[in-house]
Amino acid sequence: MTDCIMCHRGSDDKLSGHLWADDGIFGKLSSANLTQHPIAGIGQYTDGELAFMLRTGIKRNGHFAGPFMSFPLMADDDVAAIIAFLRSDAPEVQPSERRQPPAELKFLGKLFYKVMVKPTPYPQQAITAPPPSDKIAWGRYLATGKWECYRCHSAGFETNNDLEPEKSAGYFGGGNPLEDPEHNRAVSANITPDPETGIGKWTEAQFAEAVRFGKRPDGTSLSPLMPPMSALTDAEVSALWAYLQTVPPVKNAVARVQ
Ligand code: HEC
Ligand code: HEC
Repeated sequence: MTDCIMCHRGSDDKLSGHLWADDGIFGKLSSANLTQHPIAGIGQYTDGELAFMLRTGIKRNGHFAGPFMSFPLMADDDVAAIIAFLRSDAPEVQPSERRQPPAELKFLGKLFYKVMVKPTPYPQQAITAPPPSDKIAWGRYLATGKWECYRCHSAGFETNNDLEPEKSAGYFGGGNPLEDPEHNRAVSANITPDPETGIGKWTEAQFAEAVRFGKRPDGTSLSPLMPPMSALTDAEVSALWAYLQTVPPVKNAVARVQ
């Protein structure tokens, strides 16, 4: 749920949504209210509609919500766990009346939705995650299907391959320029095992600190655009590390924003 919370947390500390993009050329876009409120929230979604939305990015009203929350490769059990959370007694999803303001997209925002990004197809078969005992395969699943690290960490959203992530341009080589509504900017890091430009000289412990707590090996903090994923278990971080060691090194020096 870490990534849903990052984009959907509202000022009332529930998942009531917030202004998510606000840019002179992209336009304004708020994230939706995901609380159980029947009108302002997602109370009217059925479980099937939520599963369809999480797979394809297409909302109940038929509109495409964008490429940031379609999970075409996520295991069925993990999709079910997200839906169960949205239906649970957790304080974050209790009804909030905050209404999502309509989007006001400008030139780039419209182009982005109409041309650059597409919904992903609904899977035709059941999807099961590899067992954690198969560490590298499970790590690959976490990096591509469940946490989708490759999306931010490859060359760019437009050149990502949603169904065959390894075919994304600059797979895990970083360089994707990102900006949030507070105008924090960062370029995603090269996390391939390349020793000079990637994380080839890092230790697993340093990697775990960066992923879970947003700390670089020198003790400084990573940009808020790398969401600290404190919800990841030790086993998940270790499997992500093991898998990333097997990714072909990419030589791409990314200037770190200090
Ligand atoms: C990178 C930011 C981002 C992340 C991560 C994200 N969302 Fe969203 N979400 C948005 C935005 C922006 C919208 C509004 C899109 C629109 O209005 O078309 C949205 C809309 C939705 C909707 C549509 C609700 C409606 O009104 O029809 C659902 C459901 C949803 N998100 C669920 C989730 C879940 C569950 C997660 C975590 C697994 C998640 N989102 C992660 C940004 C995000
Ligand atoms: C929303 C986009 C986004 C997602 C998703 C994301 N990252 Fe990042 N990550 C970034 C950005 C941007 C940076 C660079 C931050 C900076 O320079 O301060 C970064 C930095 C890092 C670093 C530090 C590398 C360095 O050289 O400083 C590691 C390690 C890392 N990410 C691992 C991961 C893993 C593993 C996942 C999935 C579990 C992941 N990231 C998901 C955007 C993302």
